[in-house]
Amino acid sequence: MSKVGIFGAGWVGLVTGACFADLGHEVVIRDVVPEKIEALRQGRVPFHEEAVPALLERNSDRLTFTLDVDDVAECEFLFICVDTPPTYSGDADLSRVWTVVDELPELSGHPILVMKSTVPVGTGEKVRTGLDERGLEHVGYASNPEFLAEGRAIEDFMHPDRIVVGAFESEDADAVAALYDKIDAPVVRSDVNSAEMIKLAANAFLMTRISFINEIANVCEATGADVVKVAEGVGLDKRLGPHFLKAGIGYGGSCFPKDSLALKQLASNSGYHFQLLSAVIEVNELQKRRVIGKLKRHLGSLEGKTVALLGLAFKANTDDMREAPSIVLASRLLAEGAEVRAWDPVADGRKLPKGVDVVDSIEDAVRGADAAVIVTEWEQLKSLARPEIRDLMASPLIVDGRNLLDPEETRNAGFTYDGIGRPQSPSDVLPQTPEPAPARGA
Ligand code: UDX
Repeated sequence: MSKVGIFGAGWVGLVTGACFADLGHEVVIRDVVPEKIEALRQGRVPFHEEAVPALLERNSDRLTFTLDVDDVAECEFLFICVDTPPTYSGDADLSRVWTVVDELPELSGHPILVMKSTVPVGTGEKVRTGLDERGLEHVGYASNPEFLAEGRAIEDFMHPDRIVVGAFESEDADAVAALYDKIDAPVVRSDVNSAEMIKLAANAFLMTRISFINEIANVCEATGADVVKVAEGVGLDKRLGPHFLKAGIGYGGSCFPKDSLALKQLASNSGYHFQLLSAVIEVNELQKRRVIGKLKRHLGSLEGKTVALLGLAFKANTDDMREAPSIVLASRLLAEGAEVRAWDPVADGRKLPKGVDVVDSIEDAVRGADAAVIVTEWEQLKSLARPEIRDLMASPLIVDGRNLLDPEETRNAGFTYDGIGRPQSPSDVLPQTPEPAPARGA
């Protein structure tokens, strides 16, 4: 078993640390924020990720939390798990990565610095040069990107589709791969640049699938097809597969939006215009706003109308609101003069723009509302189409941004239903202003 140091007690760092400890390694997690370390020492985890608190607790004898960088000096592996947010230019901000390199303690033997954070291609080469310039030629370097999705991170870590290790020296790659010996998964070994690109390309491909199915959904709406059936029929083709074909109100979260910008910018910095990725990003931005058009089609002007946003997190089973469509929707609705109520079981509604009324229950959100919008696919919302909810609403309109409900059942329960890429029923079309009568004699 090995000694593993982790820089960054954020979501990636804690998941990685907890899982390595569970695999039997000795883990030291170091962060620069005293409150965070103090909370972790007391068993408090600063985000909502099921199974992480229990895993940290179960392996507490193999886990240390520290502010002191010297506590990782004995570690054989030093994982960088820090944020790489976008800068104003769209490039990834690597300042925290460089802080880690600058702050490395006195290291003896042949420890390996391992990059888990998502970084632009070429970062490893720069860090290698940086290590050499600092007299740290004896420190190895490897890229070992994470493919963890929020809400299922432990499962993704322990049962990954693959483990990617890129290194300059094959012994370093062997050593990093050996950390995962107990995990049954193919290991893809590559050069450092390719390992960095695998992460960016995998994310970009997943986003491409989402924007693709969202565009198909929009065409379904215009032509009377049902995107849920279309995705099922398409996804059964073994060459395509069923994943990431759920149409909705666009992707959000801490990874996709920032990683797509970083890859677009990386390509552009290298003199290449990544046209497809640019379209994927634009389609996603427009998709977040489509709900507004739907509301207007049913309600006319939104001025003075009350709209309930149900679910605020960028997806279910997380409290993460980074780049969540709910924020864009709330802002647009306020700009249209609507009254906005918002509910989420775990996400912090205070992250929404000022002026939104954040409430504690679904009932409080829909009371007197002209429309309810399903923004996040929370389990609690699956039973939304019930008589008590219908009776609470001023007009029983559900815009289902996640295709969570069954359209027929919802309509049978007395609601007007509008999903994403689903055929409209004649009963869903509100009376239109009559066409002006043709002029006499025309
Ligand atoms: C993602 C990647 O899955 C993970 O491998 C990477 O390391 C980080 O980014 P995450 O952001 O946690 O993980 O969420 P994910 O479950 O992949 O969903 C991303 C977004 O896409 C969410 O907003 C989700 O609602 C949306 N999505 C996903 C769709 O709209 N349709 C789909 O079919 C799948």
